[in-house]
Amino acid sequence: MSDPKKLFIKTYGCQMNVYDSERMAEAMGGAGYVTTDRADDADMILLNTCHIREKAAEKVYSELGRFKGLKAANPDLKIGVAGCVAQAEGEEILRRQPMVDLVVGPQSYHRLPAMEARARAGEKALDTDFPEEDKFDHLVARPRATRGPTAFLTVQEGCDKFCAFCVVPYTRGAEASRPVGRVLAEARDLVARGVREITLLGQNVNAYHGEGPDGRDWSLARLIHELAGIDGLERIRFTTSHPNDMTDDLIAAHGECEKLMPYLHLPVQSGSDRILKRMNRSHTAESYLRLIGRIRDARPDILISGDFIVGFPEETEADFRATMALVEEVRYGQCYSFKYSPRPGTPAAERATVDADEASDRLQRLQTLLTRQQAEIQNAMVGREVGVLFEKAGRLPGQMVGKSEHLHAVHVRDSDARPGDLRRVRIIESNPNSLAGTALD
Ligand code: 5AD
Ligand code: SF4
Repeated sequence: MSDPKKLFIKTYGCQMNVYDSERMAEAMGGAGYVTTDRADDADMILLNTCHIREKAAEKVYSELGRFKGLKAANPDLKIGVAGCVAQAEGEEILRRQPMVDLVVGPQSYHRLPAMEARARAGEKALDTDFPEEDKFDHLVARPRATRGPTAFLTVQEGCDKFCAFCVVPYTRGAEASRPVGRVLAEARDLVARGVREITLLGQNVNAYHGEGPDGRDWSLARLIHELAGIDGLERIRFTTSHPNDMTDDLIAAHGECEKLMPYLHLPVQSGSDRILKRMNRSHTAESYLRLIGRIRDARPDILISGDFIVGFPEETEADFRATMALVEEVRYGQCYSFKYSPRPGTPAAERATVDADEASDRLQRLQTLLTRQQAEIQNAMVGREVGVLFEKAGRLPGQMVGKSEHLHAVHVRDSDARPGDLRRVRIIESNPNSLAGTALD
């Protein structure tokens, strides 16, 4: 048998891309590839791209430019572009960067091995279809390698909400849920391979409505309760949720299901009703705050995280202050905030933009507030006992790193903890992006 070929994948953007890259690596495993972490050693380079914010396509073109020397040195090297830039740019990529051999959109990953074969035969391969068949049915895991203690599992993909700023409905397509049986089978397989924490993924994960074994649609809450019955699976998380899909059963699950971690990523984007309306968000600041109240009633210690966009078209200082006021009220434990970036093809891209300096100034003020809140919530953990799922060795000798229930990174010194161990830890120190503690057992 000949040596296996080597695949280098570089992943940009969200957790779903991380998951997709794993699936593509497994699919290519069936076509005789093993993964490598060195581009200069690869027989195939795949960029799994993100299109959510600024200059994404330009970044991909400049990254591709860097591979020119490798391609010149090794004419057999195949270069592919996957992900949301592949979906959005399509054929344009092959035109602008002729050394690219294949372009594959997120709904066509199961066709990657066949595309690679065509590329090997000297053809250009392009697939940005939204096929009828379920790609996950065809993306079957190959060698059952052991895994680290945490894993992502995509249960839902795409979005029908059409927020005015967002490319996701165009690049990932219509909202679709995977059947319950397939999700459970994949979860059991992950647990058998050493996984103890699963994060369920979807652009609109709480809109999940996969077909259950009883032929009826199951909600995300029902799926979570079923997953909680898997022995050896200790922790369940899910992301990203939309406020309008936070159903009563999902809120209740946060109080009822011990394995469901007290952390919820619930983006609001803005605190101004006028802007929310222009964003096509179909919720108000007040309805969001009421929702947060109900979630906290169900699980008082839940850590709320969010996403914000500042400088959306027509945003005034008063609108921005409404966002600051909402943040003050919610008290976020973790946040991602962005300056608005017009995305070609979205409704908001046609509108007049806010002055760039003004937008930068607002972003800075918002981030100062969010960083302060994050620090306050982290500092309040000092002295408390938390559960930590250890993931890997830290940078210092004898140090181990893991995550608390609230998704804080926790460092522990001089412990005999191994990756995959779930231990009780006393928090002794709060640092900018992590906590330090001592193991209690
Ligand atoms: N400009 C800036 N931020 C955006 N996001 C999505 N689209 C844009 C855009 N055009 C942010 C939103 C979303 C997160 C994933 O990225 O806050 O929740
Ligand atoms: Fe984009 Fe999320 Fe809005 Fe869907 S709900 S359009 S993914 S921001």
